[in-house]
Amino acid sequence: MEYENLKFPKNSLFLVTGGAGFIGSNLCEAILKLGYKVRCLDDLSTGKQENIDFLLKNPDFKDKYTFIKGDIKDPNTCMKACEGVDYVMNEAAWGSVPRSIEMPLFYCMNNIVGTLNMLEAARRNNVKKFVYASSSSVYGDEPVLPKKEGKEGNLLSPYAVSKRTDEEWAKQYTMHYGLDTYGLRYFNVFGRRQDPDGAYAAVIPKFIKQLLNNETPTINGDGKQSRDFTYIENVIEANLKACLAPGIKEYEKTGKNPANAVADEDCAVGKAYNIAFGGREYLIDVYNGLTKALGVNIEPKFCPDRAGDIKHSNADISRAKKLLGYNPEWSFDRGIKASIAWYKENL
Ligand SMILES: NC(=O)c1ccc[n+]([C@@H]2O[C@H](COP(=O)([O-])OP(=O)(O)OC[C@H]3O[C@@H](n4cnc5c(N)ncnc54)[C@H](O)[C@@H]3O)[C@@H](O)[C@H]2O)c1
Repeated sequence: MEYENLKFPKNSLFLVTGGAGFIGSNLCEAILKLGYKVRCLDDLSTGKQENIDFLLKNPDFKDKYTFIKGDIKDPNTCMKACEGVDYVMNEAAWGSVPRSIEMPLFYCMNNIVGTLNMLEAARRNNVKKFVYASSSSVYGDEPVLPKKEGKEGNLLSPYAVSKRTDEEWAKQYTMHYGLDTYGLRYFNVFGRRQDPDGAYAAVIPKFIKQLLNNETPTINGDGKQSRDFTYIENVIEANLKACLAPGIKEYEKTGKNPANAVADEDCAVGKAYNIAFGGREYLIDVYNGLTKALGVNIEPKFCPDRAGDIKHSNADISRAKKLLGYNPEWSFDRGIKASIAWYKENL
């Protein structure tokens, strides 16, 4: 694994917000397997108790993993959760473009104010690194492919606004308070423990579950939309490498003015990064690949496009490669095989 030889100081403590969710629980597990301590903060609003229990029950992680049930909308909860923490991975947020169009105020409070509370708590507790989840949705209607940091279009949903605003706040915390922040723009992540259920579920787990149950999946649009589907292992690698990336102090040591760090394209800190594999899959091909792999013959139902959805998404990952040393090993095909195997065993 690309990240299994990464070394952090002994007894490092990571705080993972949203650690009861899909990405967060995978981050918690990976960090614990590397031998470090994890504190998980989650309000269980979309996350699952079972994503915590399997770690609490694992004797290998005894005394290494703790869970705080709490809400990042509450500043005091964030302050307490950050006490003694070395690295923050801020994953807590509500996803889903259509739901954000239904609930704009909630997305502002939860995804923007929540992250701001976490930035402030991290600053006051002298956390070493603040790595946070952004999203490919920040590219909005920018048509040029592949999507490249610095070339963003008009935002198409309150969810996209929330993630873009988080990036701007993080930059402020780097500029004014010297907090080392790194934003990770995930592109359609998939893999074990992603929730297959509900109106807002992601397509891959949803299709797998429906096909395994002989149900008819729905495709919004003509199926010719494309995505840079990214397997969870690549996302874990990016998070860990961001925690080890050079920060403001290292920049200053090279004799440069720290006030220029955020604007300096050769400096890792205060930036957002595309985190993807760098491939491009059409949804209809993904669907057909799944039916073949699962040995079923079910035609999908086609529905109109959803408001706020992007037609094509494919990432240029050169910035993350250059400044974080990101080197994704899991192609879509490799990831989808692993995911199918997991869902077959765990659904
Ligand atoms: N999954 C993807 O493809 C994808 C793509 C782009 C960005 N992201 C971002 O990555 C992060 C993780 O996404 P995920 O797919 O694991 O989603 P998820 O819903 O599985 O996990 C999010 C977790 O955050 C928790 N949470 C939400 N609001 C909270 C709050 N106010 N206080 C405490 N906990 C809270 C939820 O209970 C849940 O456990 C999110 O920030 C999401 O926006 C995900």
